[in-house]
Order: sequence, then C-alpha cells, then structure tokens
Amino acid sequence: MSVSEAATHVFGDRVDRAVGYHDWLADAAVTRGLIGPREAPRLWDRHILNCGVIAELFGPDERVVDIGSGAGLPGIPLAIARPDLRVVLVEPLLRRTTFLAEVVDALGLDNVTVVRGRAEEPSVIAQHGAADSVTSRAVAPLDRLCGWSAPLMRPDGKMVAMKGSTAQEEVDEHRSRCAAIGIDDLTVTTVGAGLVPEVTTVVLGRRRGGQTRPTPAAPRGTRTERGR
Ligand SMILES: C[S@@+](CC[C@H](N)C(=O)[O-])C[C@H]1O[C@@H](n2cnc3c(N)ncnc32)[C@H](O)[C@@H]1O
Repeated sequence: MSVSEAATHVFGDRVDRAVGYHDWLADAAVTRGLIGPREAPRLWDRHILNCGVIAELFGPDERVVDIGSGAGLPGIPLAIARPDLRVVLVEPLLRRTTFLAEVVDALGLDNVTVVRGRAEEPSVIAQHGAADSVTSRAVAPLDRLCGWSAPLMRPDGKMVAMKGSTAQEEVDEHRSRCAAIGIDDLTVTTVGAGLVPEVTTVVLGRRRGGQTRPTPAAPRGTRTERGR
C-alpha cells in the first residue's frame, strides 16, 4: 500500500489534517530542533502512520492521556485519526508545549488539550487522571512508565506503551515491578500490518481496580528536563 493510500485508510476524511501535521513536523519541528533533520524524509512511515495505526486499540469516546508527547507523537496522529477521543498531551518542556499548542490551534484539533507538566506531578494527576487510556512512545523504561501511567488511569484503564523490538524483553524484566505498582496483564501486540513497512509494537497493560501505590521516587541523579 502506498503512503497516501495508508494515510487515507488511517485518517479517513481528516487526512488533510495529517498532511498539515506532516508539514509542521517537516518544517517548524525540524528548525526548532524537536525532530532531527534525518527524520524528515521518513516522517510518514516512522512517525505519523506508525503512531496513527494505534487508533484501533481504543474504544469509543475514550479519554486518553499521552505522556511525554514531544512534538506530538503519538497523541496528535491519534487525535486526528479518532476525533471521538479526547486526548491530553502531557509534556514538561516549554518549547515543546509551545509547538504543540500552535499545531493544535492551526489544525483545529478541538479534541486535544496541551498540558505543560510531568506525568507524575500531583496537579497533572488531579486534573487529568482517571483516563480510560494512557499512551506513550520513547519516554522511559517500562517500569517507570507503569509508575507514571497508573495514577493517571481509572481502575481497569489501559496502558498503551509504544515500544520497539525489545518490548517482550522489557515486559519479562518489569512484569513483577509493574504488577506491584498496579498494572497487570502486560502483553505485547503489533498493529499496522499492511499499512506501514514496519509494524508498530505496543505493550498493553491494565490498571487493577482499587488503589495504586504512589509512584516510586526517581533514582538519585535523575536529570530533570523542565525548562530546557
Ligand atoms: C524521546 S522524547 C519522545 C517524544 C515523543 N513521544 C516521540 O515519540 O517522538 C521523550 C519525551 O518525554 C518527555 N518527558 C520526560 N520525562 C517526562 C515526564 N516525567 N512526564 C512527561 N513527559 C516526560 C520529554 O520532555 C520528551 O519530550
């Protein structure tokens, strides 16, 4: 399937917004240092479509929190592909949230909210927690992601962590740690076969009902990125 056929398949009658997002990534995101220039020729396959294909994993009208959106991945392609979802992009760095707010405004994505903050911040959890699903891509190792995702999810909510070829290894390594935090049923699945050259690998998890334990403190020496 060609890129334009795949884009039409994934984004339907909102494909023009996906094209608009591509143009923001190829131009402003590269000049502002949010996307490496080497990514520009492969934005569709490796980024926009690769993220858009996860849309099939969500039920109708879900509230989704995307942790560490960076330049909007996967949250913006997801929100374009699924206008019924309400997507909150959580990102600590000002120049990234500035970019995200500009893109959301320019593309008229009224189902997207941009929040500057860290996923584990109490104010973020208080205002945007109890989500049906929490997404992430390239943000942190799986055990830390479980710790950040669980407090943002409603009981029985879903974690959708986009991971690469090491997904199963991460699940094997962190399954018991994630269970201790309150995330069970970790499984690795793929989406996008026939649409993207390399299928998208995702770790799915489910938040157990009831209370979750507080997020473990970051190890000493963990660098804070706020304000960079
Ligand atoms: C490698 S980038 C990935 C960006 C995007 N998800 C993608 O796939 O292109 C990791 C992002 O996570 C953000 N981040 C780091 N720690 C975070 C935290 N505690 N809460 C939310 N976002 C965080 C960073 O600011 C950065 O934008």
